Amino acid sequence: MSTTTLTRHERAARQPRLRNFAMTRPDHFAVRYAINPWMDPGRPVDVDRAVAQWQQLQDSYRQLGHQVNLVPSLPGLPDMVYAANGGLVVDGLAITARFAHPERSAEGPAYAEWFGTQGLTVHDSVATNEGEGDFLVVGDRILAGWGFRTDPAAHVEVAEVTGREVISLELVDPRYYHLDTALAVLSEDEIAYYPDAFAPTSRSLLKTLYPDAVLATAADAAVLGLNAVSDGLHVIMTDAAPELAEQLRRRGFEPIGVDLSELLKGGGSVKCCTLEIRR
Ligand code: ARG
Repeated sequence: MSTTTLTRHERAARQPRLRNFAMTRPDHFAVRYAINPWMDPGRPVDVDRAVAQWQQLQDSYRQLGHQVNLVPSLPGLPDMVYAANGGLVVDGLAITARFAHPERSAEGPAYAEWFGTQGLTVHDSVATNEGEGDFLVVGDRILAGWGFRTDPAAHVEVAEVTGREVISLELVDPRYYHLDTALAVLSEDEIAYYPDAFAPTSRSLLKTLYPDAVLATAADAAVLGLNAVSDGLHVIMTDAAPELAEQLRRRGFEPIGVDLSELLKGGGSVKCCTLEIRR
């Protein structure tokens, strides 16, 4: 490809920015209830394998120089491994989660308590809010999902308490029930997403805001390829989405594939297991 056909983003020299993450070991992981189409309580789950896969994800972050803080995992909360749902942390402010399903409701206070021990200011959410599952920070802007879990009232609440621009996006496909299952943040101004997961008006809004976004194929979306974490250069993602990895490589990113197949049984992948702490 000649340089003249490269976009601004493809020419950009990519620099990783070191992150501060929170993760929760899947010690008590199980699929005992079904609150999304990925979950089948009749299908066995191998906890040791889940822990080993999760450990590999944590090791990948550490090898890249990122900091990983561990949140204590609690018995009786099998979905607690999906730390992204534990809250939204921006500018040292931790906005607590308020889960849509009673099965996960006790996770809200559990994560809130941990935020308090980290010297973060804690805002107790009023509206139903599933944390970074539905709130993704792209530069100064926050993209916010609704349709399955987070109440649009929480979008207003987050805009008020953070002072940031919050863009509401409607999710329409139950397989992509959280925004982070259908959209990945790649850099301060780049995203990847699966258009069919969004309502037509949200799709056109995304097209206007991010005209040169990476568009994932149905196959890559269906293995939760978009449930990825980027540090601005490396994109940690499932090893099962080769086309998406290739698209990212062409734009100058370095995809790093991990196997989280055991945690996929709960309906989550890389990003679901990772909460970013922004001081
Ligand atoms: N079983 C969990 C649920 O349905 C999975 C959460 C995945 N997390 C995420 N950030 N998408 O709530």
